[in-house]
Amino acid sequence: MHPQNPERRRLQLFPSVHGGRSAMTCLYRCGDACSHPVPNTSDNEYLGDVIAKAVSRRGLFKGGVAAGLVVGATGALAAPAAAADADDAPASARWGRAPRGLDFEPVAPNREDAVTIPEGYEQQVVIAWGDPVLEGAPEFDPENQTAEAQAGQFGYNNDYVALLPHPDSSRKKVLVANHEYSDEVLMLPDYDAAAPTEEQIRIGLAAHGLSVVTVQEDRRTGALTPVVGDGLNRRITAETPFVIAGPAAGSDLLKTSADPEGTTALGTLNNCAGGMTPWGTVLSGEENFNQYFANAGAVTDPVQKARLARYGLSGGASSRKWETYDKRFDVLQEPNEPNRFGWIVEIDPYDPEWAPRKRTALGRFKHEGAGPRLARDGRVVVYMGDDERFDYMYKFVSKEKMRTGNSRRAREHNRKLLDEGTLYVAKLTGDSPAAEIDGSGALPSDGAFDGSGEWIKLASGDESFVEGFTAEEVYVFTRQAADKVGPTKMDRPEDVEPSPKTGKVYVALTNNSNRGTGTNAKADEANPRHANRHGQVLELTERHNDPTALTFGWNLLLVCGDPAAADTYFGGFPKDQVSPISCPDNVAFDPHGNLWISTDGNALGSNDGLFAVALEGSYRGMTKQFLTVPVGAETCGPVVQEKHILVAAQHPGELTGASFENPLSEWPDGPGSIPRPAIVNVTKEGFDSIGC
Ligand code: FEO
Ligand code: CA
Ligand code: CA
Ligand code: CA
Repeated sequence: MHPQNPERRRLQLFPSVHGGRSAMTCLYRCGDACSHPVPNTSDNEYLGDVIAKAVSRRGLFKGGVAAGLVVGATGALAAPAAAADADDAPASARWGRAPRGLDFEPVAPNREDAVTIPEGYEQQVVIAWGDPVLEGAPEFDPENQTAEAQAGQFGYNNDYVALLPHPDSSRKKVLVANHEYSDEVLMLPDYDAAAPTEEQIRIGLAAHGLSVVTVQEDRRTGALTPVVGDGLNRRITAETPFVIAGPAAGSDLLKTSADPEGTTALGTLNNCAGGMTPWGTVLSGEENFNQYFANAGAVTDPVQKARLARYGLSGGASSRKWETYDKRFDVLQEPNEPNRFGWIVEIDPYDPEWAPRKRTALGRFKHEGAGPRLARDGRVVVYMGDDERFDYMYKFVSKEKMRTGNSRRAREHNRKLLDEGTLYVAKLTGDSPAAEIDGSGALPSDGAFDGSGEWIKLASGDESFVEGFTAEEVYVFTRQAADKVGPTKMDRPEDVEPSPKTGKVYVALTNNSNRGTGTNAKADEANPRHANRHGQVLELTERHNDPTALTFGWNLLLVCGDPAAADTYFGGFPKDQVSPISCPDNVAFDPHGNLWISTDGNALGSNDGLFAVALEGSYRGMTKQFLTVPVGAETCGPVVQEKHILVAAQHPGELTGASFENPLSEWPDGPGSIPRPAIVNVTKEGFDSIGC
């Protein structure tokens, strides 16, 4: 295909614009969000302003961070957690073996064009972009790709991954994957970004969405092989009909010329992370949908213009020029079409006949993912992040309770649970004096970035709690509604996930280079660093461990970056015995209760990776890198089960200057090939338990 020039690849490996991201990632993933003004221009106060007013409830709510200042880190940059030498290690580091699930030799940061895993483990590509999913879909043939072929094949840029039981056989599993965005310049030969052909545009539409694929498990090795044409296999694309459900369904704000009822939207876009419900459906977040819409800059109506701007819609032509062949992507022709994206969608992987839903009760923003937790009384709570600099954390609490059992009635009931309930946004208050939160990342004198918080009600069913907003407006323009009630402006809330073991909720706050710059919000105790390049991980404990509670405690589990730097914190664990971690994105839990974090945009110079973090006892904060993904890729998924770890290696080779004709990665197919996003299955040799 393409003879590769190793010298050229070395030279161009790491040009980047924001953190560790390439300019190409910025353009195709987020529509260059970082180059545009911060959409949240509300004067909603930040934590530093309110801290003096705060009533300290720390004794009641404080999470269990280790006390004591961390000073004088001696760790070597770029060295992974070394097994502690008991003789040389400080007293606090004499922890002996790793806890269950974390007993593996960590991989070192690197810049390989490969997935690197610990010794004693095996890896296998389960499925890659272009592999057939549906019966009759052709094999991958990138020189001759068509929209029809793509609609039956695995989509591009896999992000969220779920691996579920298969109803027919314990040897089969159901794999569900999001396809966040297309990267046409890497995917298609002879691609002219200024004038794409209609067929190229249709390929892009078909490469988005989700895939449902049955896989067969090899009992001996744990290898997973797609079963092409299995009855559960599906492709959902940017043209698949979705039912608009919940309290905003049928709203005038959602009506278009093609859908005068405002109840059916075509397709799902920019599906990033997701979550599994306790009733067996999959949730997926529509994230940077703004980039697909053209001509917001020409809108003159001030109300519409402000609404578009708050969601980052601006300018003329879109980057993919879909508006050229489909007028719904032109806001001058279809002003409400953007309102039909930015939702949490729900699909039932076990029922291909059930049309996927857009859940308006969960609000509209740049949804990263959705982390459900069942309350003791059977109501379901969904935690969510709005991934934008200075945007917010949310939760939804259902009105009705989940029904147990697998009866048709229970299933029908549960598949409506996310249509009625209450939507909240989070406000966090630190417990340390404002003067001690100076933007440097230095721990305050109480030894922790921590405090309390409240969930502020936005809307419940048809009732709005935001002055000047109807309930429909709260759901469709959730960002503006939230601006009115004073939530905390966070450092890009990505995945928000409750621990199945403890109920504590973990939030990946990936970075925020604008924190403390210009007129932007200054540091606060939950977002304690100015020009925050590496991000932090927040641990949230609901009052009485009740997910329906209106108040909570919180603390920063990790302040990411170089362990040798003074502005990092690893849960109180000795910093000379942890792996460096930067830009946390997706979070998951293993069966032992450890937190696993995948990264996106490593600003320390290494490829992105997957890390395991101990949460309990003397190991709390121990952070070990389990794998790294190829050059230009980010680590997504992840799925962490007893014997399988699955990651989605998204956009390998997405580096400045790369193209179909000039690929800068050859993963996973090797020399002479173009890169392909793919899902990787890692197992322990002998198919034993991972990390044990
Ligand atoms: Fe698609 Fe927020 O990452
Ligand atoms: Ca504090
Ligand atoms: Ca993400
Ligand atoms: Ca990501």
